[in-house]
Amino acid sequence: MDFITPYSLCFLLLFLLFTFFTGAQFYENISLGSFLTAGKDNSFWASHSGEFAFGFKQIQNGDFILAIWFNQIPEKTIVWSANRNKLVQRGSTVRLTEQGWLVLIDQTGRQIWSAYGGTEVAYAAMLNTGNFILANHKSDNLWESFHHPTDTLLPTQTFNQGSKLIACYLEANHSTGRFLLTLESDGNLVLYTTAFPVDSPNYAYWSTETFDGSSQVIFNQSGYVYLVEKNGSMINVLPGGASTEDFFQRAILEYDGAFRHYVYPKNNGSTSGRWPLTWSPLSFIPSNICTSITGQVGCGACGFNSYCTIGNDQRRKCQCPQGYSFFDPNDVMKGCKQDFVPQSCDNASLEAELFEFLEMQNTDWPLSDYEHFELVSEDWCREACLSDCFCVVAIFRDTNCWKKKLPLSNGRMDTSVGGKALIKIRKDSSNLQPADPDEEKKHHSTLFIIGSVLFSSSVSLNFLLLIAAVMSAFHFYNRKNNTFQQYPVMPGINLRCFTYNELQKATNGFKEELGKGAFSTVYKGVLALDDKIFIAVKKLNNMVSENDKEFKTEVTAIGQTNHRNLVQLLGFCSEGQHRHLVYEFMSNGSLRDFLFRGSTPNWYLRIQIALGTARGLSYLHEECSIQIIHCDIKPQNVLLDDALTARICDFGLAKLLKAEQTQTSTAIRGTRGYVAPEWFKNLPITAKVDVYSFGILFLELICCRKNFAPEVKDENQMVLADWAYDSYKEENVHVLVQDDQDAIYDIRRLKKYVMIAIWCIQEDPALRPTMKKVVQMIEGAVEVPVPPDPCSSQYTSSSIDMSRFH
Ligand SMILES: *[C@@H]1O[C@H](CO)[C@@H](O)[C@H](O)[C@H]1NC(C)=O
Ligand SMILES: *[C@@H]1O[C@H](CO)[C@@H](O)[C@H](O)[C@H]1NC(C)=O
Ligand SMILES: *[C@@H]1O[C@H](CO)[C@@H](O)[C@H](O)[C@H]1NC(C)=O
Ligand SMILES: *[C@@H]1O[C@H](CO)[C@@H](O)[C@H](O)[C@H]1NC(C)=O
Ligand SMILES: *[C@@H]1O[C@H](CO)[C@@H](O)[C@H](O)[C@H]1NC(C)=O
Ligand SMILES: *[C@@H]1O[C@H](CO)[C@@H](O)[C@H](O)[C@H]1NC(C)=O
Ligand SMILES: *[C@@H]1O[C@H](CO)[C@@H](O)[C@H](O)[C@H]1NC(C)=O
Ligand SMILES: *[C@@H]1O[C@H](CO)[C@@H](O)[C@H](O)[C@H]1NC(C)=O
Repeated sequence: MDFITPYSLCFLLLFLLFTFFTGAQFYENISLGSFLTAGKDNSFWASHSGEFAFGFKQIQNGDFILAIWFNQIPEKTIVWSANRNKLVQRGSTVRLTEQGWLVLIDQTGRQIWSAYGGTEVAYAAMLNTGNFILANHKSDNLWESFHHPTDTLLPTQTFNQGSKLIACYLEANHSTGRFLLTLESDGNLVLYTTAFPVDSPNYAYWSTETFDGSSQVIFNQSGYVYLVEKNGSMINVLPGGASTEDFFQRAILEYDGAFRHYVYPKNNGSTSGRWPLTWSPLSFIPSNICTSITGQVGCGACGFNSYCTIGNDQRRKCQCPQGYSFFDPNDVMKGCKQDFVPQSCDNASLEAELFEFLEMQNTDWPLSDYEHFELVSEDWCREACLSDCFCVVAIFRDTNCWKKKLPLSNGRMDTSVGGKALIKIRKDSSNLQPADPDEEKKHHSTLFIIGSVLFSSSVSLNFLLLIAAVMSAFHFYNRKNNTFQQYPVMPGINLRCFTYNELQKATNGFKEELGKGAFSTVYKGVLALDDKIFIAVKKLNNMVSENDKEFKTEVTAIGQTNHRNLVQLLGFCSEGQHRHLVYEFMSNGSLRDFLFRGSTPNWYLRIQIALGTARGLSYLHEECSIQIIHCDIKPQNVLLDDALTARICDFGLAKLLKAEQTQTSTAIRGTRGYVAPEWFKNLPITAKVDVYSFGILFLELICCRKNFAPEVKDENQMVLADWAYDSYKEENVHVLVQDDQDAIYDIRRLKKYVMIAIWCIQEDPALRPTMKKVVQMIEGAVEVPVPPDPCSSQYTSSSIDMSRFH
């Protein structure tokens, strides 16, 4: 600096003054006697940053709720409220009295709610953290909203023994609902269903199982929610992790019983543009709410007579069995009712012939049985239920038969359930008859074509079963007014069978090509029903026998998968020489384009994609009834949906292996660079080949470059795997991310992720962790041990303690 003019001095002073104020003044003081009136403009007090506001917020029906909300995002998401069960109308007031009370008075003058800070209260303030406080002259908090949470925790908030979060009743109804999170006095953090409409705990469906008198749950500045045990050790509750500088964050016990950590990118942050401008869940518990809740009393995760599945968005989905419908479609927890006249008990065996069964695979209502028979056949089970007027559903599983009575509770459909449910319905129930006889004829002819095509080639037993399922689906084809009603549906699997004509129409004559592979071409299409639904139609090209096999493999295996990180198969077409698979359309294309074309995606998003891919693979390896090995994990085969969630696609090269059969003899599959060494070595091919490919993909995500880059100047950096291990060895992993500031600030995790990737690309498959372990390591649930050199032969699986990986 050369010269200071009086002008610039003045400016400097102003600047200093300004920084002094922004530094020192964290909030506006609200003086005693201040009040807000519902329905007036600006009836709120904002925090100094503007991030949060306290005041009256108008919600549905024109009612007002006294609340704290995120004030800088369009959603104005509520994080706390005073009167969730007693909404007020226009003209109501909230007042900070001279005596230290904060009082909510409704429009008729009735006191609805109050908080008391004591006679010392000097002012109130909406802090930048989202905490609303009553404080004395020394700025000690005498009352704070953080100590009276409703359903949400915010960063810096702690959750102490005896505190409770109670979920909202519905997403759009803030009344107290059916789920409760509490830190009990023995130190156990527990999720309960409540004995709705009473707030008392009913059934514990998740807990940390810590009984040493844990002190508190902390939501810290780095976006982790963890429990601190009495002896100081920490247990991750929501292992998210996201900086409060870049994201608005909240952890909320939601109306569906899940406790979720959400983030929303701040506009000014480096995240803007690369992260969807909406609340995205980073993590949640429990992992499967459908199977977590099995209470002796209460309806379960869904209402009575309904059943619960986990949808693609990893949220609970409640559905009625066929022949039943929701009392109130806007409130599925109210359950389902029968759409037919129940069986008469005067005349049950005579009436038996008026009833029939609909089958649902992998479905059960575990605690509603009143009779159980062992070592019986399915026919026997059907007869027994049919002639019994109490029996509304029979469950048949491994020669066991259970009769179920109304109301059915704790219903779930999940591959872990096994067996089948036989739903008893009246034959003449008009809503189950095909509405249009012509339509029915068309379905039967489609079926015939599928049948003849398949029978002419070698048919696996699986596929015969599939056809049987299709037939029964057509027979009992559901007439409900849903989006896909024109297409037949397989119960349990939900695959639709399309005619070639339908697909030709949907793709406008296979006009828009999305991609091309060795065996297939993918086209964009749209199902023009009530809502336009975009689809990706994969046309399998040559009709040689290998492709025929591929087709069958894909349809049966993929039809049964259902996971947030997989591209969902919607249906298929098999007509003459035409073979097509119909998938959901992924609007944001493939990871390859996302990663290597255009600007560098945000670090946190990259990690989120890696975690999603790992979860999808872990599901394929461990949670399907038949293990699915992908064999071709690479960025082209990971797609991104409109929320930028990673979705694994293309099981075209997948090899189905029965759990015990680990060896295959097929020619090398996969893609160079991502291919595990055992393909070249005549070693057994196991799920560990996917772990290897994932390791390479993970490195690409971390470093945002391709696994092989011949154009780089430094020879040592050409092969990403080698460079990564070298930089890890030399303790300078930061060179891998160049000048990605987010990653460098997050150096500890960067190093951890590199270590995980190095474990994945071990030459010895036995040294590689399972995908499940990889997920746990990325989530931070387990420690990452020091990895050996991936290529080193001095390590063998026996010389290292492998127990931690199995
Ligand atoms: C708010 O009130 C407290 C106590 O009277 C005082 O210490 C503090 O400086 C006030 N803050 C502002 C911004 O006025
Ligand atoms: C919200 O749900 C509760 C419980 O069922 C009900 O009493 C209340 O009327 C609902 N509120 C609104 C605004 O619909
Ligand atoms: C928050 O918690 C995580 C996990 O325990 C820890 O790694 C991180 O350092 C903590 N951040 C702050 C700001 O305390
Ligand atoms: C604290 O206690 C728990 C058991 O209650 C134990 O698992 C954990 O290892 C202990 N942590 C420390 C740091 O001693
Ligand atoms: C974004 O704004 C917040 C305050 O609103 C600030 O704390 C943060 O540092 C800013 N982030 C960036 C990257 O500028
Ligand atoms: C018993 O069933 C028969 C045949 O369905 C019917 O005709 C008869 O009316 C029924 N009797 C009673 C008491 O419901
Ligand atoms: C059924 O769908 C049609 C359009 O396909 C729509 O007009 C009608 O309102 C729907 N009926 C119900 C009960 O949703
Ligand atoms: C992802 O897709 C959505 C919806 O099509 C679009 O609005 C968004 O810009 C896309 N994001 C990226 C990063 O391409």
